[in-house]
Amino acid sequence: MGGAAARWRERQSARGIPEHILRAAPADPWTQVPADFAPPDVPADTPSRTAARALAERAAARTCAGVSVLDVGCGGGDASLAAAWPDLSPVARVVGLDRQADMLGVFAAAARSRGIPYGTVRGSWPDAAEEAGRHDVVVCHHVLHNVVDLPPFLAALTGAVRGGGVGGGVVVEMLPEHPMAWLDPLWARFHDLHRPAPATAEDAVAVLGEEFGITAQVHRWERERRLPHGPEWVARRLCLPAERVGEVAEALATIPPRRTAAVTLVWTP
Ligand SMILES: C[S@@+](CC[C@H](N)C(=O)[O-])C[C@H]1O[C@@H](n2cnc3c(N)ncnc32)[C@H](O)[C@@H]1O
Repeated sequence: MGGAAARWRERQSARGIPEHILRAAPADPWTQVPADFAPPDVPADTPSRTAARALAERAAARTCAGVSVLDVGCGGGDASLAAAWPDLSPVARVVGLDRQADMLGVFAAAARSRGIPYGTVRGSWPDAAEEAGRHDVVVCHHVLHNVVDLPPFLAALTGAVRGGGVGGGVVVEMLPEHPMAWLDPLWARFHDLHRPAPATAEDAVAVLGEEFGITAQVHRWERERRLPHGPEWVARRLCLPAERVGEVAEALATIPPRRTAAVTLVWTP
């Protein structure tokens, strides 16, 4: 394992919650609510969407056929459905892969209501890569910061592009640093837990270069949609009970607000 992959592993491993804090937590701090990931009625016009559509158009021009998009860690399908809909697109089919069945339910309902042919694969990437098969475009939004061992995860994304990337490619969207890093000062304040520096988008780019010789295009931009940041939501993430939401609200006023910055990485095999 190269230095960049080792750095990613070390930084991601340090994001865990110590056992004694988890045991005392009133609710699971990791749970994601599927409804929070339902795709918007009108997809946001982002560099990720532009890149996925451009790859789809290139793939369609090469194959003269309908394009398929694989959405790894699809949640409600925001990434792939934005590439396929609502304006004219060569995307003929989307496949959502997620380890949570309830997320796949949101994805399937969203694809059906938009009239987009779809498939689903329940499983964990990269283990489920074979079942997912190959596609023209592979999108993976806001999943990398769940991963500790990054090289096999990235290798499987690249490997899932049909025909060695004739026209198609991979689009990854992520935050510039671990999505919970903005709460590090509050972990110190409430739990005396002092976290080291988080894994960043630059770290992921370095892994692509060092492990695979891939130079990703990097687009930095600002999201319009605010991610969850209210005191109740934060208290749960910090493993604190409802009685402490007021204290959390006060503490939140002392730290910089949750950032809206995002990063899109694009590469072809
Ligand atoms: C933060 S959500 C992002 C959902 C969606 N891509 C979006 O941008 O709205 C992360 C999703 O990835 C899924 N996930 C995380 N790690 C995964 C893995 N190794 N394999 C499959 N799904 C994964 C989670 O279940 C969750 O639905």
